[in-house]
Amino acid sequence: MTRGSVETSLAELAARIRRRADGQSGRFVLGIAGPPGAGKSTLARGVRDELNIAAGYRIAEVAPMDGFHFTNAQLRALGQLAHKGEPDTFDAAGYVALLRTLRDAPLGEPVPWPTYSRELHEPVSGGAVFDRQTIVVTEGNYLLLDDPAHPDWSGVRALLDETWYLDVPRPIIEKRLVRRHMRGGRTLEAAKTKVIESDLLNARLVENTRPRADLTLRKSGRAYRID
Ligand SMILES: Nc1ncnc2c1ncn2[C@@H]1O[C@H](COP(=O)(O)OP(=O)(O)OP(=O)(O)O)[C@@H](O)[C@H]1O
Ligand SMILES: [Mg+2]
Repeated sequence: MTRGSVETSLAELAARIRRRADGQSGRFVLGIAGPPGAGKSTLARGVRDELNIAAGYRIAEVAPMDGFHFTNAQLRALGQLAHKGEPDTFDAAGYVALLRTLRDAPLGEPVPWPTYSRELHEPVSGGAVFDRQTIVVTEGNYLLLDDPAHPDWSGVRALLDETWYLDVPRPIIEKRLVRRHMRGGRTLEAAKTKVIESDLLNARLVENTRPRADLTLRKSGRAYRID
């Protein structure tokens, strides 16, 4: 542990959210932001599973920002397919609207939420459904973006009760992203090009949003460090 930071486990992080959620009426929304490949989706599922196991029922579900990717057909029509992953290749207004719906909907009323398939490389409508879950874990790159060039994203922050920024050193992110693009069918060269020309530019945009988070987390072995 370094001065000024504390180590915590996934279970403790989940317990923190449970305490905060129990202290308010209505749904509680945790937002996890961070650059591409930081491990946001993995962390979000981990927090959800810890919450559900500790509660003994399905108290939490994940609401991925990635479900609001425009479809490949839409991006092609917009001439944006090569830019997939950038802020304007998502339906940010739709994301904000559905987060608001989720906050306002009475418990028990089904609210379908789109997910994203890494096999199909397309959003899947109704991939998740909220009904009685009182804790929403939403995660994605641009949750904390506040940039006049992409104004719709600025509406997200007000709908989050707590936000975490998952920070990972650049070289680790680069390695993970190259590996993932290769698993998706790209050659090593093409994977590296995609990382340099697209992912890292998005990462820089996201890194600027870190000061807007309530907590910054860094993975430390099996634990997380809070700065
Ligand atoms: N704590 C971790 N330690 C090692 N590898 C990890 C960790 N968390 C995630 N990974 C790996 O890193 C890769 C990216 O993880 P994940 O998909 O959770 O990131 P992400 O932030 O959701 O990425 P994206 O922004 O592209 O959706 C995956 O291959 C995952 O297995
Ligand atoms: Mg993800």
